Amino acid sequence: MEAFTYKRGQLFAEGVSVAELAKKFGTPLFVYSRSHIQEQYRSLIGALKELDPLICYSVKVNTSAAIINTLAKEGSGADVVSGGELYRAMKAGISAGRIAFAGVGKTTAEIEFALKSNILFFTVESEQELERISAVAKRLKKTARVALRVNPDVDPKTHKYISTGKKENKFGMDLNRALHNYALAARLPNIEIAGLHMHIGSQILDATPFAEAAMKVASVATELKKLYPTFRYLDIGGGIGIRYKPEQSPLLPATFAKAVVPILKPLGLKLVMEPGRNIVGNGGILVVEVQYVKQGPSKKFIIVDGAMNDLIRPALYEAHHEVIAVKQAKKKTRGDVVGPICESADFFALDRELPDVKQGDLLAVMSCGAYAMSMSSNYNSRPRAAEVMVSGKRAALVRRRERIEELVCGETIPMAW
Ligand SMILES: Cc1ncc(COP(=O)(O)O)c(C=O)c1O
Repeated sequence: MEAFTYKRGQLFAEGVSVAELAKKFGTPLFVYSRSHIQEQYRSLIGALKELDPLICYSVKVNTSAAIINTLAKEGSGADVVSGGELYRAMKAGISAGRIAFAGVGKTTAEIEFALKSNILFFTVESEQELERISAVAKRLKKTARVALRVNPDVDPKTHKYISTGKKENKFGMDLNRALHNYALAARLPNIEIAGLHMHIGSQILDATPFAEAAMKVASVATELKKLYPTFRYLDIGGGIGIRYKPEQSPLLPATFAKAVVPILKPLGLKLVMEPGRNIVGNGGILVVEVQYVKQGPSKKFIIVDGAMNDLIRPALYEAHHEVIAVKQAKKKTRGDVVGPICESADFFALDRELPDVKQGDLLAVMSCGAYAMSMSSNYNSRPRAAEVMVSGKRAALVRRRERIEELVCGETIPMAW
């Protein structure tokens, strides 16, 4: 579903005018489409129905409680990577028994919190982490279910910063040592071998790397199932790519399923998936207001009130986001869309054909549902943007704009110095 479309020359989020939302809630403003998120979830579940998967929405992608709760109501579990994300996921309505805890650096406190909450399983990234989880579980008299994360050494052909399944990446354990590490896990107290995990990267537009990785782990998983009666989950991570540019073809759930189902089905394991971007990426926009239009000696700058602290992806990955006018503009211009932050990397678009907007006009930065608000910061002491969720003709403020006083509320000045 296209969540954001023009009606009579005005951009709408489902049935709600984006200009009206900006007027009511101010800018910069994230706007999310609930229906889009629901449809993306249902289409993935539908494509994989033969495997009856457990979808664990990857909370890092967008931590909004309203989004997590929307997915919880669809039946989703969660993939979390910190104590904070575990807390958020449970608070937003996901039961701990449907939560997988990933990440290379889990602290003792985080492991304790997860064990006490009785999560589904830990995805374990190193031998030392396995030993720590075992020790904490023993102390708490709990059993820790674990799925070792293997690194299948597959090139997902995506940006190097979001490639996670090549041998030079910090993630997972060498697939060749998997059987050895499972034997270690089996010897450790208070550990239950629950499954195997992998995640090869993000924004992957071709199903081939997924099939390649699935093939690589399939024989190991078969062997493990024979060796350990409790081995029952195969978690293949997230990574399905979306359309950021009009000419891009997203990786459709049906194409993905066609490539992996024939490899996974014969294994007879419970499939777990951790999608994020695919569920929420195109379900969000960032609405910004033009503050100034400045003609430089060589190009034009459209200076808006959103910035790299709201959306870091262009600065971090040189990621492309479409920028469109909220009120459709026939006249075009060429230039950069930049924010007010004191960094030359503070841009949303560079040397692009753009709507010919003027001071006070609104722009929408598209595909901002994923890795946008959740990666935002207070850099340049900018309060975080507000978030609105739309459902049909209804709109609700799901996170109010941060207040300027909140920027300093945790700080103290040592008086005696
Ligand atoms: C372990 C793990 N699972 C799932 C995801 C979500 O990936 P995506 O948003 O590409 O679906 C990530 C993202 O980095 C991840 O690290």
